[in-house]
Amino acid sequence: MCGIVTAIARRNIVPVLLEGLRKLEYRGYDSAGLAVLKTEGTPELTRLRAVGRVAELAAQADATQLSANIGIAHTRWATHGVPSERNAHPHISGGLAVVHNGIIENFEELRSKLQAKGYAFTSETDTEAIAHLLHDKLKTIPDLFDAVRATIAELVGAYAIGVLTEADPSRAIVARKGSPLLLGIGEDGHYAASDTAALLQVTRKVVYLEDGDVAELTLDSYRVTLQDGTPVERPVNISSLSADAVELGKYRHYMQKEIFEQPQALANTLEIIAGGGGISPQIFGAEAVDVLKATRRVLILACGTSYHSGFTARYWLESVAKIPCTVEIASEYRYRESVPDADTLVVVISQSGETADTLAALKHAKSLGMTKTLAICNVPESAIVRESALRLITRAGPEIGVASTKAFTTQLAALALLTLALSKINGHLSAEQEAGYLNQLRHLPVAVAKVLELEPEIEKWAQRFAGKHHALFLGRGSHWPIAMEGALKLKEISYIHAESYAAGELKHGPLALVDKDMPVIAVAPADELLEKLKSNLQEVRARGGELYVFADAGSEIPESEGVHILHMPEHYGMLSPILHVIPLQLLSYHAALVKGTDVDKPRNLAKSVTVE
Ligand code: F6R
Repeated sequence: MCGIVTAIARRNIVPVLLEGLRKLEYRGYDSAGLAVLKTEGTPELTRLRAVGRVAELAAQADATQLSANIGIAHTRWATHGVPSERNAHPHISGGLAVVHNGIIENFEELRSKLQAKGYAFTSETDTEAIAHLLHDKLKTIPDLFDAVRATIAELVGAYAIGVLTEADPSRAIVARKGSPLLLGIGEDGHYAASDTAALLQVTRKVVYLEDGDVAELTLDSYRVTLQDGTPVERPVNISSLSADAVELGKYRHYMQKEIFEQPQALANTLEIIAGGGGISPQIFGAEAVDVLKATRRVLILACGTSYHSGFTARYWLESVAKIPCTVEIASEYRYRESVPDADTLVVVISQSGETADTLAALKHAKSLGMTKTLAICNVPESAIVRESALRLITRAGPEIGVASTKAFTTQLAALALLTLALSKINGHLSAEQEAGYLNQLRHLPVAVAKVLELEPEIEKWAQRFAGKHHALFLGRGSHWPIAMEGALKLKEISYIHAESYAAGELKHGPLALVDKDMPVIAVAPADELLEKLKSNLQEVRARGGELYVFADAGSEIPESEGVHILHMPEHYGMLSPILHVIPLQLLSYHAALVKGTDVDKPRNLAKSVTVE
């Protein structure tokens, strides 16, 4: 989703703004823009905007030899109005410019009011209303900081904004509510951005703003207040994010890099159980013992890929921990009338920790009195983590590719730990079983690395696949969510229409779709449902459907005409879904490569979905 960079420094900040935007590209965007104040002589606002890539904006900046000490920049993911130069940010009113990430819900009302006051709108965006509103406020509140505070008091919805004005070139103002924003404390000035990656080029010292914060940045200082002007102190953190972690290195795409980082990401996430001891509830936080002991049910809330990890965990939680579990799509749960239950542990799963629907679902659950909350998240300082009582941070490292891969497998590892912790606390885990599961988890990075060696075979399959327009993914039990995840990966990056079904459902409808042009992908581990799955696969073969089967040790499905088998090295018991998703990630990656789509930035999608 939209990304913001703001800078005021004793250097030419144009390259900083552009590099910051490049680092935010992964969030997804369709246009980019920046505004700077040229401060030699009379301060003068210069704005550049481009539809498409940041590279286009950079070319414009080069061509005009743009240089300045203060500026704001933005990547836009269209919400109100089509992707176009006219709708690209910054938006200007008089001599002031605004960039904005989020959605202003009362913008129609604001627009009508401002139009009645004589403001002419040149875009279809909600952001332009913020620019004109601020301009209007400055007529009666001459101080820029105070005028921004008065402006945001009238905004309903989510925002992170950056503001500058010709009238006061010594400072930039930023504010946030609902959308992420952090400050960077540099040697030569002050910065702000939607995420840390954008600022590593200038500083590691970062201050995470809280919802409702407004901050003023000058060359030598910064201050933060609440919307009402009350000063607040926010801690300065030293980011441990390494610049390498967000570089591509030897890989062609971030998605490929992140698929291959999975052994390390899993090892890092599972470091908490690296010692010889058993599983301890305290890995979820100091109060976790009491919370887990009192837990009678689990409700998992998440979106997209994170929802699929939750759905997989449901099988584990019910079969191993013997605890009832419901999994809901966060965007549905938040608006559904549901029956709250105080003994339920609410588990929210999110890579980014900023997904608007998941955050809102969590707040909704809390408002219903369900205060036992646990976040499984990849970003420790994110809104979702801050909003949850307990947390387990996956240590996948920054995930840049829009299609989630290493976040998913590390979420599964974290959910396996939750399953074991609940099993143990409820007396459903013998010491021997615990040792067995822990050994398997510790060996997981090696097992994943072995599966990754199958890439050349999967690449060959992808060649045959890429010409297809549709695909069906089948799985059973805990591998049904893996089939769902495989279908999601394929459609989002290769644009091949893919559906997933619990294999037993085939004959209840989707079998009608099967013919020689419909490849059917089956996730076929050697588990207790294998024989059932084999019957489902016969049904496909009998209708001329071509089968691509991901088997593992003991699956014993023979290769034959129209039945292609990929043999995974080992069967991995409860944790088998973690291994079985890897070839599906590789399959969609290679199918997308053959099709020539933009793997890391698929059309219409954003990485961090910070609006509803
Ligand atoms: C798919 C994908 C999305 C995200 C979803 C939730 O590859 O990445 O479906 O999983 O938008 O995002 P998080 O996990 O950040 O809450």
